Amino acid sequence: MRPRRHFAACTRGLEPALVDELTELGAAHVTERRGGVAFEADKRLAYTANLWLRSAIRVQEELVGGRMRDADDLYDAVASVPWTRYIHPDQTLAVSASVRDAPSLRHSGYAALRVKDAVVDVVRAKHGRRPSVDTKFPDLALKLVVHGSRLLLYRDLSGRSLHKRGWRPVQVKSPLNEATAAGLLRLTGWDRESPLLDPLCGSGTLPIEAALWAADRAPGLQRPFAFEQFPDHDERLWEELLDDARRRAKPTLPFAIDGADRHDGALTLAAEGARAAGAQDLVRFTRSDIHRLEPDTVPRLVVTNPPYGERLGEGEDLIDTYRDLGKFLKAKCPGATAWILSGNRELTKHLGMRTSRRVPVMNGPIECRWLRYEILERRNGTSPTGPASS
Ligand SMILES: C[S@@+](CC[C@H](N)C(=O)[O-])C[C@H]1O[C@@H](n2cnc3c(N)ncnc32)[C@H](O)[C@@H]1O
Repeated sequence: MRPRRHFAACTRGLEPALVDELTELGAAHVTERRGGVAFEADKRLAYTANLWLRSAIRVQEELVGGRMRDADDLYDAVASVPWTRYIHPDQTLAVSASVRDAPSLRHSGYAALRVKDAVVDVVRAKHGRRPSVDTKFPDLALKLVVHGSRLLLYRDLSGRSLHKRGWRPVQVKSPLNEATAAGLLRLTGWDRESPLLDPLCGSGTLPIEAALWAADRAPGLQRPFAFEQFPDHDERLWEELLDDARRRAKPTLPFAIDGADRHDGALTLAAEGARAAGAQDLVRFTRSDIHRLEPDTVPRLVVTNPPYGERLGEGEDLIDTYRDLGKFLKAKCPGATAWILSGNRELTKHLGMRTSRRVPVMNGPIECRWLRYEILERRNGTSPTGPASS
């Protein structure tokens, strides 16, 4: 297959992490866009991207790209695709559309309908039967994007969102999504060789994703993908990529990845998640309040997502938690770099530390900042003091 344009979608703010990942995978023509990254890929790379990308939530392949004047042009462009390569008549289909500044298309529902008509007409002409529509669990999900006269039609290669690795046992109340956690970790520039700690780890998403990354475990090894059901799926190629990924996975790590939290329920979920991910030997979880936490290993990197009141409603003691976190970093993590996901500026002021970098990033619907702090080395046995409050 000749290379085609693809688009990997991610959470807003994590695009540079995804550019990094795709470049590392060897993708060509990698271009950062809003909410994702465009790149060129043959089938091998498209499968590899699904299997290995940690910060993406989906990978789509561009099937049609061009210009149109009206709905008939749209129909003709879609009907020019040899759809029997992409869907059997006994499979199901769903089309979603996003239309901007295209008066001839009236609304996105109408545009989606024209695409669906074109696909089923092509399949019916060849087989005498047509695929049916299933908006919830389609075999083939198409996404139409129209902006003015420009149209793009993608097929979704991933299926359910790539953040669903298959290791989280149950939906947790206030977790960080796995792909967001992985993207945030990549933005820190962590070397994957030095000790890492999340002192408010909740269900453990950051430590577990850090462990899987450091151990070179492919995030997609434990889940199915939409492309496995496609008529043009190459099972031999896929098996080869899976075998290679299984061989690469490291069983242990020569440094500590730690998580701590004061909440028993969260730690149970963290331990279950680590076990389900096969990472129980790569991460350690400790029950402790931040003001009493004594890390076994001084971390080089601290990453954490403290409560910001919007989701957990922990109320009054939030300010104390931030104060205690600031004190903990200065007293127990000399020389480390800390990255803190902040959804509330007022609260981060109570850390009593000055940021050295701020990256805007969405955490679900919440606009956050991924804040970097450099913690001073300890001087002659005295406790290190971070710079004055910002
Ligand atoms: C927003 S949640 C972290 C979510 C986590 N990133 C995840 O993926 O599940 C914040 C966590 O901080 C913990 N926490 C709050 N105050 C604490 C304190 N003083 N000491 C220790 N843990 C605390 C809560 O129990 C909660 O699990």
